[in-house]
Amino acid sequence: MKTPMILAMAAALLAITIVDHSAAASGKSGPKQQQIAHGEYLVKAIGQCGDCHTPMNEKGEFVPGKWLQGKKLDFAATVPMPVWADTSPNIAGLPGWDREKAVQFFMTGLAPNGQPARPPMPMYRMNRADAEAVVAYLQSLK
Ligand code: HEC
Repeated sequence: MKTPMILAMAAALLAITIVDHSAAASGKSGPKQQQIAHGEYLVKAIGQCGDCHTPMNEKGEFVPGKWLQGKKLDFAATVPMPVWADTSPNIAGLPGWDREKAVQFFMTGLAPNGQPARPPMPMYRMNRADAEAVVAYLQSLK
């Protein structure tokens, strides 16, 4: 009479393993998802990246479906600037960026060519954990 009991327990264990696995695979929980959530907070609440990187409508609202996809800036410097970028690039998914180089960029403010991005892009000096979270969030966007 012991065998069916053991079989039932084995089946239960297997079920737990499968459920656990699919939760991780769907990315609904776990450290990666927490890191992305932290990056989203930094981008939206602290960095305000959307102000410069997301197209807005005439009411100043973000255009749906264009989140962080870059735009022609609607403001300019009031004093002469030696360099000024009037366009922000698409950063949704960080196309063309190596992950570690992007992390370095947000930690130092220096792009892979050793130069800072042109103003008004701020030179962020995030700690590694925050820079990695921002990159994880941006890469999670397509
Ligand atoms: C005040 C406006 C502004 C804000 C805020 C801003 N950006 Fe930018 N960003 C720009 C502009 C303009 C450029 C283009 C700079 C250039 O072409 O040299 C740029 C460039 C970049 C680049 C490409 C840099 C390179 O050298 O290729 C990345 C990546 C980036 N921004 C990410 C972000 C993230 C992430 C945030 C928020 C944490 C952010 N930006 C906030 C305006 C802004």
